[in-house]
Amino acid sequence: MSFEKKILCIGAGYVGGPTMAMIAKKCPQYQIKVVDINPARIDAWNSNELPIYEPGLKEIVENVRGKNLFFGTDIDESIKEADIIFVSVNTPTKTFGFGAGKASDLQYIEKTARNILAASDRGKIVVEKSTLPVRTAESMERILNGNDKGMRFQIVSNPEFLAEGTAISDLENPDRVLIGGHPSEEGLAAVEEITKIYANWVPREKIITTNLWSSELSKLTANAFLAQRVSSINSISALCEKTGANVDEIANAIGKDSRIGSKFLKASIGFGGSCFKKDILNLVYLCEHYNLPEVADYWENVVKINEWQTTRSVKRVLRSLFNTITGKKIAVFGFAFKADTNDTRESPAHLVVRELLDERAIPVITDYKALPDAKRDLSDVLDKVQFTEDPYEAAKDAHAILLCTEWKQFAALDWQKIYDLMSKPALVFDGRNILDGEKLKKLGFEFMSIGKA
Ligand code: UDX
Ligand code: UDX
Repeated sequence: MSFEKKILCIGAGYVGGPTMAMIAKKCPQYQIKVVDINPARIDAWNSNELPIYEPGLKEIVENVRGKNLFFGTDIDESIKEADIIFVSVNTPTKTFGFGAGKASDLQYIEKTARNILAASDRGKIVVEKSTLPVRTAESMERILNGNDKGMRFQIVSNPEFLAEGTAISDLENPDRVLIGGHPSEEGLAAVEEITKIYANWVPREKIITTNLWSSELSKLTANAFLAQRVSSINSISALCEKTGANVDEIANAIGKDSRIGSKFLKASIGFGGSCFKKDILNLVYLCEHYNLPEVADYWENVVKINEWQTTRSVKRVLRSLFNTITGKKIAVFGFAFKADTNDTRESPAHLVVRELLDERAIPVITDYKALPDAKRDLSDVLDKVQFTEDPYEAAKDAHAILLCTEWKQFAALDWQKIYDLMSKPALVFDGRNILDGEKLKKLGFEFMSIGKA
């Protein structure tokens, strides 16, 4: 069968994999290929055990894989064949040199651009899917269009707004699709090419087109605003604990104001995930670069409050356990950064475990999907941490449970049985406000949660 278009995605991660699976599902007329430098990851995409857990993803992949969706490591050949190339490689925070700890490390983006140039024999549309600092497309263009083979590439920015755990429904029914390009004739044509892909299932009025820089900066801004809401409600949670107000009641009351809205007001032990911290720090770096220190400070505090929220939670537990947890078993319920994912990047649970270790406690971690990633993250301290798939086993002889991930299954556990298994006084710290505290207190637990006296 011949396909209408050949689309390639470089980077088979949490963004590239699900996004391409959805395009393949909605557009049987296109051939979709996903490549990655990591052969183990590609093998996993071609197996029954996908490398990422995302509700609904496996069913889609199994339906389209081998028909119009392909995973491979033949990067050069795939680049040569492709008409449109999505770039979805990771852009971690720089750990060295200028901007270390804040700026994005763009080495993979640059390498990918050079790779595209070297393997191409004609111009193509290159789509930035990764979240990037504003004006990255300019560097991509310099690399790609500085060739002497007469090839012209068009760069388009198309940031992905899916959230993990709900990726499939977010992709299927997005609030909006954002596509940025140059206002030139060629630029507008490239934007229209990408628009046509999404128009196979997304209503045109939800597809927003902008200039390149607005598109790049919108992604950073969206993540900064979302994270800011969590930090704002978390800052109020601390005041609630001092005053007898209840943060869940406040979130409900303010969320009813349509100007504020009810989403992203859930107080928690802290936000995690690969994007929020990285993108805000990137925004901070950009503001510093453009000599806007006040703006940089404003946003940096969103990250500071988040770390403070996690640390102060561990301190509250410590105080409740007579200021010493040395040698005590402490169960950590959930290591993923949120429910319904195996992703642990920047998870607040990771900081919790490190702080428990600093106090020489014995953390016992349980999670429904994230134990393999947890073991990888804690590989330097594996002799000091325990892991179990069974929450009851994690609770056995524990002095406290710190609930860090809002897995629904935790609320449905047999808490009487857990109480019986634990050391007394059995403390539960609900870092996600998902448990029925009154019920737990009746069972005999000491109970603490976020933003309630
Ligand atoms: C990444 C970025 O973190 C995010 O900012 C951006 O919005 C989308 O891309 P994610 O998909 O979650 O998000 O990252 P990750 O799961 O790490 O996937 C990136 C993949 O790219 C990895 O599988 C990696 O092996 C691959 N890669 C990286 C390449 O194929 N080539 C490279 O040169 C570098
Ligand atoms: C986020 C953005 O939502 C998405 O648009 C972007 O593409 C990538 O970054 P993600 O990191 O997958 O997505 O998850 P998200 O649902 O935004 O949650 C981020 C963190 O905030 C999680 O740790 C979550 O538990 C926490 N959170 C979220 C809260 O603590 N309270 C809330 O009310 C909402």
